[in-house]
Amino acid sequence: MEVSEKLAPSPSQFSLRTVTYKDAYADLANDVFKGLSAYPKTLAPKYFYDARGSRLFDQICNTREYYPTRIEDALLASSAVKIMESARPAHIIELGSGISRKTRHLLDACEYLNLSIDYHPVDICGEIIEQAGLHLSQTYEWLNIKGVVADYCDDMTRLPDHNEPRLFVFLGGTFGNFHEHEAQQFLEQLQSIMRPDDRFLMGFDRIKDHDVLNLAYNDRAGLTASFNKNVLAVINRELSANFDLGAFEHDAWFNEKESRIEMHLRSVKSQKVTIESINLEVEFAADETILTEISRKFTPDHIKTLLQKSGMKVTDHFQPTNKYFSLVMAQPEPALL
Ligand code: AVI
Repeated sequence: MEVSEKLAPSPSQFSLRTVTYKDAYADLANDVFKGLSAYPKTLAPKYFYDARGSRLFDQICNTREYYPTRIEDALLASSAVKIMESARPAHIIELGSGISRKTRHLLDACEYLNLSIDYHPVDICGEIIEQAGLHLSQTYEWLNIKGVVADYCDDMTRLPDHNEPRLFVFLGGTFGNFHEHEAQQFLEQLQSIMRPDDRFLMGFDRIKDHDVLNLAYNDRAGLTASFNKNVLAVINRELSANFDLGAFEHDAWFNEKESRIEMHLRSVKSQKVTIESINLEVEFAADETILTEISRKFTPDHIKTLLQKSGMKVTDHFQPTNKYFSLVMAQPEPALL
């Protein structure tokens, strides 16, 4: 799907509100200062996703090498009716919705089951929600789309709240981009705002052949490399820095011990970078790296334990025959509500 059109979705079907929990600029400035003053250097993956980064990610999803999108899409296509039949929500709240590509299966299932729902895409990038709104409103004339621009991790109590069943959706294996403590915190926060009728649908990438994993993060067209370097372009633009994107290389591999892909930017030479707005000079030795993303891979036991520890129980687990990916339905444990 092309996401660069400048048309706007119909205002009768689409609304967009920005929930500013914190000052996004101050967050970026603080995170960059902390991450690049530390050793080893790190940057948070959420800063990949300006309009260009979101577009690049969408293009990565179309590559042959990046299997998660394709596989999760097929899983959703085959299980959407079952999911919607058991959840029967009045609202779908999708965290990190991006272009809402795979959500269409859930919306098709709503049509099939004659369920009327409101769709609330929540994403850090408003432009991508508008693009999704434009496409969805053309296909689903009955659908109310109530977009929310937010960093959903900050304060879930401000997510759309309705006294009707909600289906929270978190697809694409984005959960894998959290460290263990962040993952646990995310699930606990979500569990704390869920009511007994609410359900949670989540995608998890699984551990598999290392070559398959490594290729998925090193596509031949170099889209993942551009996506990775985009975080430097964001810092140049937003914080008046002078990163030379040509002086950093994309480096991604599966770390077996940690069960995660690590994505790094490797400095090709010793160099100094100035980040004017935060008054920081950063020195890089030749071959020094910035860790820009982790993408953790899971086993079914790990998934179950994570959910259990945060007061949720797995009600359904969908996986393809090659076990490359898991789609998991969960609900809050009644005793803990
Ligand atoms: C968004 N997230 C699930 C992707 C992943 O696979 O961890 C981001 C990504 N990074 C490189 N390619 C895709």
